[in-house]
Amino acid sequence: MWRNRDVISARDFTRSDIEELFETARYMEKYAKGRLDVMRGKIMAVAFFEPSTRTRLSFEVAMKRLGGDVVGFWGAEGTSVEKGETLADTIRMLDAYSDVIVIRHRYEGAAKLAAEVAESPVINGGDGAFNHPTQAMLDVYTIWREFGYVDGLNIGLLGDLRHARTVNSLLEILTNFNVKVYLISPEYLRPRAETIDYVQSKGLKLSFYTNVEEVIGELDVMYVVRIQKERFIDPLEYEKVKGSYRVTPDMLRKAKKTLVILHPLPRVDEIDPRVDATSHAKYFRQAALGVPLRMALIYLILS
Ligand code: NCD
Repeated sequence: MWRNRDVISARDFTRSDIEELFETARYMEKYAKGRLDVMRGKIMAVAFFEPSTRTRLSFEVAMKRLGGDVVGFWGAEGTSVEKGETLADTIRMLDAYSDVIVIRHRYEGAAKLAAEVAESPVINGGDGAFNHPTQAMLDVYTIWREFGYVDGLNIGLLGDLRHARTVNSLLEILTNFNVKVYLISPEYLRPRAETIDYVQSKGLKLSFYTNVEEVIGELDVMYVVRIQKERFIDPLEYEKVKGSYRVTPDMLRKAKKTLVILHPLPRVDEIDPRVDATSHAKYFRQAALGVPLRMALIYLILS
């Protein structure tokens, strides 16, 4: 049941929630470049305190394709936050003016705080280094659309698994499926212990690697993330790991023909642009599916 729910953490959603979302998104694909007037008269407020291209635009486009309206801001510039208004007060105002709030913030916990203050549903568009639940839903949706199923797949996660909030949320969502997860990263960039403990306690099978060449032949999906430079506490640690992995056409010679490469984007230098022309590259399709997936989310929550 999605009606009126906040979307703060991927942990809050069951397999049947996710299946309902996917079936609805599949339906919405027909309207992702058209119009389905089911949100007429509804307003979505977007409060993006951190940079974003895909998440913000796909939420806005999704609401517009559904016939609804969008208000909001990107960056606190020009809002009363510059005058010292608190997050809670800003959210109270958006709550008064709209039917659903999408928030992105650099601090972990900002979305939860917003949900506590607002009566309208709050959707977390990424806060801090820990949660980005709708991206993770989109990631698994893309896998489901590529293969037709998720159970039984070998899924590799490559890169900065420690600071990438999409990775944390993706691991949490994957606990609903019977998959094997290969965590491939420099040791320092492994996911946080609390995440590992949580997903293992839910039965998710994890194995750890530092060298992608060692396992690439086993993978059905390789999910790549950039090094999250802005989230490092210690710049020296960043210097040590920057440029430590890069997916190249050469590396892919050992991969299964059907390997699907995903990336939440933006990419920096971790996927060689020559990979884009291979049949493995699905990250642009993944970004495009953000519209129907978010149309489904808005529809299920607000209708
Ligand atoms: C991600 C994010 O903001 O966490 N981008 C996105 O929403 N697609 C990934 C990133 O910034 O690396």
